[in-house]
Amino acid sequence: MGIKNAALSFILEATSPSELEEIKLQFLGKSGKLTLTLKEITKVPVEKRPSFGQLGNDVKQTIEDSIDQKMALLKKEHQQEKQARLDITNPAIKPPLGHLHLITYAIEEITEIFQRIGFSRVRYPEVEWDYYAFEALNFPSNHPARDDWETFFVRGEKDTKKGHMILTPHTSSGQVREMEKAVKEKNEGDIQIKMLNIAKCYRRQSDVSHTPMFHQFEGLVVGKGIAITHLKGVLDYFVKSFFGPNRISRIRPYHFQFTEPSFEIDVSCGVCEGKARLPDGQGCRLCKEGWLELGGSGMVHPNVLKAGGIDPKKYSGFAFGWGVERVLMMKEGLEIDDLRLLYSNNLDFLDQF
Ligand code: PHE
Repeated sequence: MGIKNAALSFILEATSPSELEEIKLQFLGKSGKLTLTLKEITKVPVEKRPSFGQLGNDVKQTIEDSIDQKMALLKKEHQQEKQARLDITNPAIKPPLGHLHLITYAIEEITEIFQRIGFSRVRYPEVEWDYYAFEALNFPSNHPARDDWETFFVRGEKDTKKGHMILTPHTSSGQVREMEKAVKEKNEGDIQIKMLNIAKCYRRQSDVSHTPMFHQFEGLVVGKGIAITHLKGVLDYFVKSFFGPNRISRIRPYHFQFTEPSFEIDVSCGVCEGKARLPDGQGCRLCKEGWLELGGSGMVHPNVLKAGGIDPKKYSGFAFGWGVERVLMMKEGLEIDDLRLLYSNNLDFLDQF
């Protein structure tokens, strides 16, 4: 039947549901082609009417079925297209934004504080000779004080002059390197050193307040007439800039091979404000009698100046070396009670800062 094929080819080419509706009307509607043809039944001889009627119904069914099928297909395609279309007015999905590591921020802050009073940041090797880390710093070989630094040794040949290769256990290894550089660069003028050496350090240690890798910042000032008062002034300036105007510092006698006299530095506790007691009368849990230990310092030992090629009769200097992680922990309100968290790559922890 011509009508059937005509309808099917229109259905095949239809590209929208409204077109399909149109086709349906055109063939099956009240005055549609098939409807009108079926009305002609009265003109068909009586004995042929049943088969004519049957054929007409079959065609009607076929057209209806294929319209339904095509309709479902078009609706599905339309849906997929809608999903794929980009709507630029939709609110966007925010990409996750990272930030610098807590320690990097602290290093930047410390650098800026010392740059304001004329210190220059330097960097020296992380894999260092025993000579710069110990020997030149007035440690006789086999001196028991070396044990305090719990050093990692690098497997390999010993250098005849500089000894074993090690991982820098403290930033003090930069002191003699800095002096050698200053002596080499000096022309007619006096030697003047204002070094800030911030670096990774390594020691065989791991507990809540120690990680095998950590950072120190080392100050070294060498010049004519440098005295303990200069050290105390720089120290107070740092404590107030970094911890806040209400915090104060004190120096206590101590021992280091490379400074004489040597001091341990304390900072007043930020939690109990140096009182050792909280307002409710309870003892402060954070500090010892109102003070927190910051780290070591002292006047550069004459033997160290000599090792750097500087005449201790003409020049003097002071040095200090403190832990970056440690000063960060001592800042108020941070409450990092396990230092190892800093280097555990735990985003839940790091995202808080
Ligand atoms: N290097 C010492 C340490 O690691 C600290 C220090 C630095 C002490 C400079 C005195 C002078 O503990």
